Amino acid sequence: MSIFDAPYQDWLMRQQAAQRYRRLPADVAGDALNLASNDYLGLRHHPALIAAAQDYAERFGVGAGASRLLGDSAALYEPLERALAPLKGTQAALIMNSGYQANATILTALLDPAAIGRDPVVLADRLIHASLYTACRNAGVMPQRFHHNDLNHLESLLTRHGHTNSARVVLVESVYSMDGDCADLAGLIALCQRYGAFLYVDEAHATGVFGQDGGGLASQYPGQIDLVMGTFGKALGSFGAYVAGSRVLIDYLINRCSGFIYSTALPPPVLGAIGAAISLLPTLEPARQQLLQLASQVRDKLTARGFQTGKSSTQIVPLLVGGEGEALRLSHQLRQVGIIAPAIRPPTVPPNQSRLRLALTARHQPQDLDRLWQALDRLSPPRLSSVKEGVA
Ligand SMILES: Cc1ncc(COP(=O)(O)O)c(C=O)c1O
Repeated sequence: MSIFDAPYQDWLMRQQAAQRYRRLPADVAGDALNLASNDYLGLRHHPALIAAAQDYAERFGVGAGASRLLGDSAALYEPLERALAPLKGTQAALIMNSGYQANATILTALLDPAAIGRDPVVLADRLIHASLYTACRNAGVMPQRFHHNDLNHLESLLTRHGHTNSARVVLVESVYSMDGDCADLAGLIALCQRYGAFLYVDEAHATGVFGQDGGGLASQYPGQIDLVMGTFGKALGSFGAYVAGSRVLIDYLINRCSGFIYSTALPPPVLGAIGAAISLLPTLEPARQQLLQLASQVRDKLTARGFQTGKSSTQIVPLLVGGEGEALRLSHQLRQVGIIAPAIRPPTVPPNQSRLRLALTARHQPQDLDRLWQALDRLSPPRLSSVKEGVA
């Protein structure tokens, strides 16, 4: 028993009443159709990644033993970071332990007024990942949110803060994790250049799937984005994250970013798998095309059944439901027939925009989805017209 059990229990009961209680899912028995995995290219089972992880475990051990600054792992990291920088079109790159840790601690370091010499003003797309909000909170900065993908709204905020002597930082994702739509990076770059703002792009869901050799959407704008981060735990099949930018910015983070300085470095087998995945990326164009084609078919079939999929144009397809209860019910019904399609509810998504988040991977074949179509036709779940999209 903890002395705070009673208030925590009260809090949990309020979550339950609002249909927002989260529980760890049990495994689905048998051969499930998994639509919850961000392993978009199916690399986590790839023999090259497994062989590299095994090889690194045998040669370098299963743990790093120390943080990067104290350890002896330069030879494992440097080739990876040297490969990442040109892939992202930046001068330098740095590997971090996870995407959450990267966002939460890099941004906090960047927002330090003592370093930039001015107070930061953060302008954030309202759908950015929770880790970026955590970073702002840790830095004591209240982000100003602009309507999702609305560059006019962003510009009005840039104008409003234009006269102040503040350092403006714009936060976006290139592929949005819960909506599967894309940012207008060209428009964002132009705006940030016009207003002298720093552009931070989270490529967690674009890395591996979009851009030349899977380098992400930001790689199409070499040297024009101040900071790009992404993860190895999604399309690249293993774990960890990277940040890419100017040499000065990376050196600043090595000196200033608490998540980098004060955490044990990644296990060598993970670094082996990351290296194998980066080497494979140029060969995976057919898998990328097949994945995006399948996603397009899935959107068409859902729309034909009367569902809304928002503005998705990627491998992430939201099946918009609306209320928390309906989303939970539908997810549960699908689970009972072996289909894993998680319900996403507030606060992860805005109120009235609960959904099933369908994540497609290159391992899915069109016929695998037949199970989903049969189940949806049998369940005839709600076809809601009341879902509010993109409401700020
Ligand atoms: C947009 C975005 N950024 C960052 C992260 C965190 O990445 P990681 O899973 O490597 O911690 C996620 C993970 O869900 C994400 O969706």
